This record gives sequence, structure tokens and C-alpha cells, in this order.
Amino acid sequence: MVILGIETSCDETAAAVLEQKNNSIQILSNVVASSASLQAKYGGIIPEQAAREQIKAIIPVIEETLRQAQCSSKGLDAIAVTYGPGLIGSLLVGVETAKVLATIWQKPLIPVNHLIGHFYANWIGKDVPHFPCLGLLVSGGHTDLVLFTNHGKYKYLGGTRDDAAGECFDKCARLLGLPYPGGPEIAKLASQGDALRFKLPVPMKGHKDFDFSYSGLKTAVANIVKTFPVIPSEARNLPTSEDPSLVVQDDKQDLAAAIENTIVTSLVDKVILALKTYPVKNVMVAGGVAANQELVRKLKVQGEKLKVKLHVPPPQLCTDNGAMIASAAFFEKQIKDPLTLQADPNLSL
Ligand code: KG4
Ligand code: ZN
Repeated sequence: MVILGIETSCDETAAAVLEQKNNSIQILSNVVASSASLQAKYGGIIPEQAAREQIKAIIPVIEETLRQAQCSSKGLDAIAVTYGPGLIGSLLVGVETAKVLATIWQKPLIPVNHLIGHFYANWIGKDVPHFPCLGLLVSGGHTDLVLFTNHGKYKYLGGTRDDAAGECFDKCARLLGLPYPGGPEIAKLASQGDALRFKLPVPMKGHKDFDFSYSGLKTAVANIVKTFPVIPSEARNLPTSEDPSLVVQDDKQDLAAAIENTIVTSLVDKVILALKTYPVKNVMVAGGVAANQELVRKLKVQGEKLKVKLHVPPPQLCTDNGAMIASAAFFEKQIKDPLTLQADPNLSL
């Protein structure tokens, strides 16, 4: 069984060809074209601009994906596409392209929820999660805890009340003058910083539910940034410097480390809390923020302590890609008439 997966829900134009053989899903090709460099210039995503770039990229990306997989349309058993949630202009590019291809190539069309797709990056390869499995989705738009009891069977436990974890990384990065997307930028700076210098409130600490909240953290960071440069380097026992920008850089590293540490702590705490209520033996993480190595390290430590198996996709499969969409499609149903599929920007779990 070979599936072409198409993903265009945000600023990426992505496609992949995956094969299911001997009970395991393998990537034959995986191509991602991003307009992130354009977004970096403007400090975020401009929806119309993202969609315009995707219209230009979608056919070349699909052609390149098929070429790399050494697969013609005849070799495909189905086409899968993200139909929501996401930016409507972006979703339409993928959905309409998939509808046309499914019709002219006479292939089944399998609609995939982008959020479910993120989780299925964990089903690529041999070492896949076993049910029941706790799922943490941490992306630019979502922060959700879900309990999966089987394919297509899950219970929503909680989610963010305001900003998503990735959104908080991005907004804090902007406050620090770092480019979009901010998560990797903060992580890079954080690795050089002292996470204990700035005290930030851990969101929802002590709350016994499975909800998250990150808008307060962003405000706390904004208030600290206003005071930059905070302490001259002499006062912190650092080599005296004539260059004030070095002091600012120092502040940025320490604050980045505190931001990363606070977001990671809040996520890990909720996973531990959920495991107390639902003592399952498998935990999977998904979404762009799952590419954060500090989050993975801390979850691994807890996983070993609690004798829980942790599943995290490799970083390139955490951020948006077509492979996760094709992977999810192996467990989803095809739509009867491809031309009736509608993009749904507000689709939820
Ligand atoms: O899943 P994704 O690619 O797109 C959405 O569906 O939203 O997630 C993008 C988010 C961005 O907020 C980005 O800053 C964050 O994932 N991200 C990271 C890292 N890599 C990407 N956050 C923290 N650390 C990273 N290494
Ligand atoms: Zn995503």
C-alpha cells in the first residue's frame, strides 16, 4: 500500500510518499518547501502571502516527491490531504489540488485532520506506540493532551486556554528581537544561558486539571525585556566589557533559557499529572515544539522514572510535513466522492 500525503495547512507546502509493508510504515520520499524565510522578514505569517507561495510550490513539490520516491501516479494506492485546521487560503491549495489529482488519476482520497496527523509521525518506522497511549500535541497553534485507546478512538483531556506553547515561543522570541519561527531561536540561545537567573511563573502550576495557559508567561517576559539591560556584567562577576551590547546578549541568553525551562516544566508537569490519573505505559509527543531537545530530555528522564515508553518523532517529522499526513491516512477512511471534500479551518480533535 503506497500513499501520497499532501500538507499545506500553514506556511509549508509539503508532500511525501509512504509505503506500508510487513506491518511497518516507511518513507519513500518527503519534500517540504517553506516560505519561512519570507515570514521571518515580516516577523510572522501573512496568510495571503503564504497561500500565494503555496500555489506556486504545490505542483513542483508533488512532482519532486514522486520523482524521489521513483513512483508514478500509477504506483499510488491513495492520496491523503490535510483538510483542517489551519489557514483557509493555505488549506484550499492542498485540498483542491488533492481533489483534482484524485479525480484525474482515479485514486481514493483520504482526508486527514492535521492534529491527528502530527501524532501519526510516531507511526513511521518500526518502534510505534502501543495503546492505551497518552498524547501531547505541542505546535504553533495547539497544546493538547489526549488519551488514545485505539486508532480513531481518543479522549480529549485538556488544552490551552489561550496561547499555544509554540505560539508562546514565537511571541517571546519576537520580544527578544529574534526571527520567526521563534522556538528554534530561543532553544539555540537558551543552550548558552542560565535558566535560574530570571524567575518566571510556571503557568497553571498546582492546577489539578489538564489545561495549559501561556499568555501570562508572555506578559511576564515583556515586563522583564522592558528593564534590559538588567545587570551590568561587572556586577555579575563576568569579565568587564566596554561593549553594552554584550550585556544585552547575556540577558537574552539567560531569559531565553528561563522561557524554555518554564514552558518545558509546565508541559512535563502536566504529562506527569495525566499519568497519575491515567497510568498508561506509552506516551507520545507531536508537533513543532516536540523538536525541542530540552523538552525531550526532561520527558525521557520522567519516562525512565515512571517506567513509561516515550515516543518522539525525529525533529524533521515534528514540524509540518506530508509524511505524517500519509502515515495517518493508513488508519483513516477514504471519502466517497473526492469532489465533495471541503477544507475546514476550524476543525478540532
Ligand atoms: O507543528 P508546527 O510545525 O506547525 C503548527 O502546526 O503550528 O509547529 C510550529 C511551532 C512554532 O511555534 C515553532 O516555534 C515551534 O513549533 N518549534 C519549536 C522548535 N522547533 C519548532 N519550539 C521550540 N523548540 C524547537 N526546537
Ligand atoms: Zn502543525
